[in-house]
Amino acid sequence: MSTEQEIRESQLVDRVVASFAGTPDPRLRELMQALTRHLHAFVREVRLTEAEWQQAIAFLTATGHITDDRRQEFILLSDVLGASMQTVTVNNQAYGDATEATVFGPFFVQGSPEIPLGGDISGGAAGQPCWVEGTVTDAAGKPVPHARIEVWEADDDGFYDVQYGDDRVAARGHLHTDTDGSYRFWAITPTPYPIPHDGPVGRLLAATGRSPMRASHLHFLVEAPGLRTLVTHIFVRGDDLLDSDSVFGVRDSLVKDFEPQAPSTPTPDGRDLGDQPWSRVRFDIVLAPAAG
Ligand code: BEZ
Ligand code: FE
Repeated sequence: MSTEQEIRESQLVDRVVASFAGTPDPRLRELMQALTRHLHAFVREVRLTEAEWQQAIAFLTATGHITDDRRQEFILLSDVLGASMQTVTVNNQAYGDATEATVFGPFFVQGSPEIPLGGDISGGAAGQPCWVEGTVTDAAGKPVPHARIEVWEADDDGFYDVQYGDDRVAARGHLHTDTDGSYRFWAITPTPYPIPHDGPVGRLLAATGRSPMRASHLHFLVEAPGLRTLVTHIFVRGDDLLDSDSVFGVRDSLVKDFEPQAPSTPTPDGRDLGDQPWSRVRFDIVLAPAAG
């Protein structure tokens, strides 16, 4: 590239950066100036053609058109680009043995049913019963009584209840830890499922030879006063998809042993499952102190 061309390109970057210099909010100024620098660096590095620019605009337009109050294609785009997981990583720095966070995903719903300790969140969702138990403690190892635990998951066919197309509530619920910080409930053994891939993000994955599949997981949101709210999942050890999760959500520390139990194995709470096999998993949760 000629020196003159180099100067024209970098002068344009400088002018756009300078256009934000008078932004009253310093954080907005920082964000817009850094965004300008990175965006221009991308355009210049790949020598973006005008046809490619148009295709990018058409892609973002389609992403907007499919987005409504039930479907958020922009978050899905952020997820498959790893931007959601990077934001989680930046904002949840390691603290002692505190349990690691991962992506929230689009399927959390406010107002899930409350279940008692030892209750069942499945609400009739198809799947193999799974006994989940553990404790919630702070980073000093002190049990956290009455912590609120929200859990949600896809059914055996890979669908969350909000994807059923009716008002059924299934495979989600919330409970509180006991006075000793322990908790237990019945769920269903997680199975793999694809993220919604019938829109622009799905076409992007197909064009780049990537799979929409998520590794099997069970979502948790854990809250207690004075402690950092934890948004995470647990994954199933042995799942083939652990290394290729479409939204980069897997962390080694979150991979747990879901121990298969043969039919007729006595259950921890005496529940009679007839001749069904079931599984059990232990997840001990450690909450970091709240920031500030
Ligand atoms: C989920 O785990 O529910 C999820 C996360 C990111 C994108 C789509 C689904
Ligand atoms: Fe999920």
